[in-house]
Amino acid sequence: MRKVIQRAANKYCRWRIGQTLPGVLSDLDAYKKKSNTTGTQWITLWMSVKRILKHHPEEILESGTGSSTMVLAATVQKLKKETPGYNGRVTSMESVAAWHEIASNNLPDQYRDHVEIILGPRKKFEMGFFRGYVHSNIPKRNYGFVLLDAPAFDDEHGLSFCADVFKVMDFVNHSTIHGVVDGRASSVFVLQTLYGPSAARYYHSLFAASFSIPKIDFRDPKNNTPKDWFCTPFGRLVYRKFRRL
Ligand SMILES: C[S@@+](CC[C@H](N)C(=O)[O-])C[C@H]1O[C@@H](n2cnc3c(N)ncnc32)[C@H](O)[C@@H]1O
Repeated sequence: MRKVIQRAANKYCRWRIGQTLPGVLSDLDAYKKKSNTTGTQWITLWMSVKRILKHHPEEILESGTGSSTMVLAATVQKLKKETPGYNGRVTSMESVAAWHEIASNNLPDQYRDHVEIILGPRKKFEMGFFRGYVHSNIPKRNYGFVLLDAPAFDDEHGLSFCADVFKVMDFVNHSTIHGVVDGRASSVFVLQTLYGPSAARYYHSLFAASFSIPKIDFRDPKNNTPKDWFCTPFGRLVYRKFRRL
């Protein structure tokens, strides 16, 4: 059942993308012939397009370059055409040199003005009681939207999570950051643990989650006091400091 829903949703989202961003589907088909990137599912791409068209972020961070880069760039291109004063751009991070080279060489010319592809080998990231991986070399820009689709997040200790969205909280000025996660249940788990399930609802049949989360600073001792822990009558602990009620 899950697969059937996912297949139907992907079909619908592909169609919506084709309607909204004319020409991008044929660009994606051509790109796939030159690069055998894993790609990002249509559900995730459409969630991203909708959020970007709604919130008009000037700075977009993509974690994991590939065919998704073109969809984000085409969305920025559309907003630039239709919205006076909008001058957005996509900063696309790739952690693996070989994939960085393939993506940089194959990005179609019409998208180059809207995208910067940067090589940033993955590095460890620690935040409070979580550990994860981020891209190194992320430029300090005021990101309002983040697509989380990399870097690799497993190692000798087991499964961690993709943490770029928390890394950028050190320098963005927005009080709220919008974004989408493709797959990566452990990343959604961290978002839900901190902000509550309603902040990033996840369904296996969609294999993706969108979020709008407030910027937080885990190093601030004010954010970790005994009163931040709630205990249910059944003994379940909830870290409620940043929870949406
Ligand atoms: C899920 S992929 C990112 C896909 C990208 N967002 C897209 O739409 O094509 C995550 C990472 O896997 C690596 N990667 C890309 N293509 C790959 C492939 N065919 N096989 C193995 N790893 C790949 C890259 O380092 C990439 O950043």
